[in-house]
Amino acid sequence: MAEHSAHRPPDPTGIMTLATAYWGSQTLFAARRLGVFEALDQGPATAPALARRLATGERALALLLNACTALGLLVKAGDRYANAPAAAAFLVPDRPTYMGDALAYGEDVYGQWGELDRVVREGGVERAEGYLGDDPERTRHFVYGMHGRALGVGRALVELVDLGDCATLLDLGGGPGTYAALFLQRHAGLTATVVDLPPIAALAGDILDAMGVAGRVRLLPGDYHEVALPAGQDAVLISGVLHRESPARAQDLIARAVAALAPGGRLVVSDVMTAPGDDGPAFATLFGLNMLLTAPDGGVHSTADVTGWLTAAGLRVEPPRPFPPPMPHTVITATLP
Ligand SMILES: C[S@@+](CC[C@H](N)C(=O)[O-])C[C@H]1O[C@@H](n2cnc3c(N)ncnc32)[C@H](O)[C@@H]1O
Repeated sequence: MAEHSAHRPPDPTGIMTLATAYWGSQTLFAARRLGVFEALDQGPATAPALARRLATGERALALLLNACTALGLLVKAGDRYANAPAAAAFLVPDRPTYMGDALAYGEDVYGQWGELDRVVREGGVERAEGYLGDDPERTRHFVYGMHGRALGVGRALVELVDLGDCATLLDLGGGPGTYAALFLQRHAGLTATVVDLPPIAALAGDILDAMGVAGRVRLLPGDYHEVALPAGQDAVLISGVLHRESPARAQDLIARAVAALAPGGRLVVSDVMTAPGDDGPAFATLFGLNMLLTAPDGGVHSTADVTGWLTAAGLRVEPPRPFPPPMPHTVITATLP
């Protein structure tokens, strides 16, 4: 090693990139909050024209627009700026693929990331941040952010997991019910029960209505560790949930899910997970820190751990399957013999 480093000095590029990585995030967030992408959806514009429309400083906006261009969010022809294709698809409100609510969640947790050293020193946070009901605006960002993400990730899950032979689905921590709704849209014979905390369940009705499945979904507001779960389920989904649970509580939730399954029923666990060894992929490790900052038992589990817990719960477990890139999720399906 010493010999190797004598020939090739260590490269500081990675450290420099990391030290300023949040500049790019904040450029994106600021442009979204100022309404840049929405305004440019009406057509290309110069910085002075856009500054008048958005009521910003002209020189300052030009700096922001040039940075957005360099980051690939905008394209510039002469002195006119336009949305790049990805910005037009994902950053313009009212588009079905709009990701703004998910971005707003990222903006909401930005302050907490500034506390990472303190939280690591103290071993974690004592309570979940206000997005689970205490703060209505943040809760709405969280719920609609989940919904927006789930519309993309859920479509991939519906492709990966066939529930065509199931009549009942129990979705634990189902959020606004987006995943359940996507499965119901796919399988006409399926009905679902969605369990989530009361402030989240209260926002689910509108989303399920809009997805045309409200009549086939029963919302069960409550704590999934405590609420009485319906028995005899053909499938139970635990999606995006285990990352906020300690290993012991995750295993407890898996045991409750297994108790709710009919013989031959399927448990589907979908989440961001690390590979065995826990030190990659990089996004999954950072996601673990995000959860450390936002939930008392938050973190990230490995595919090996989750597979072990499902096996110990008496299930026949299939190998983990990654979602298609760029989605960082993995699904593990297991059957009750
Ligand atoms: C990251 S979201 C995942 C939502 C959805 N399943 C998905 O994959 O998009 C985690 C969900 O678990 C819910 N949740 C957290 N703790 C809970 C608890 N103790 N009981 C019920 N739901 C809970 C949250 O309100 C949130 O909707």
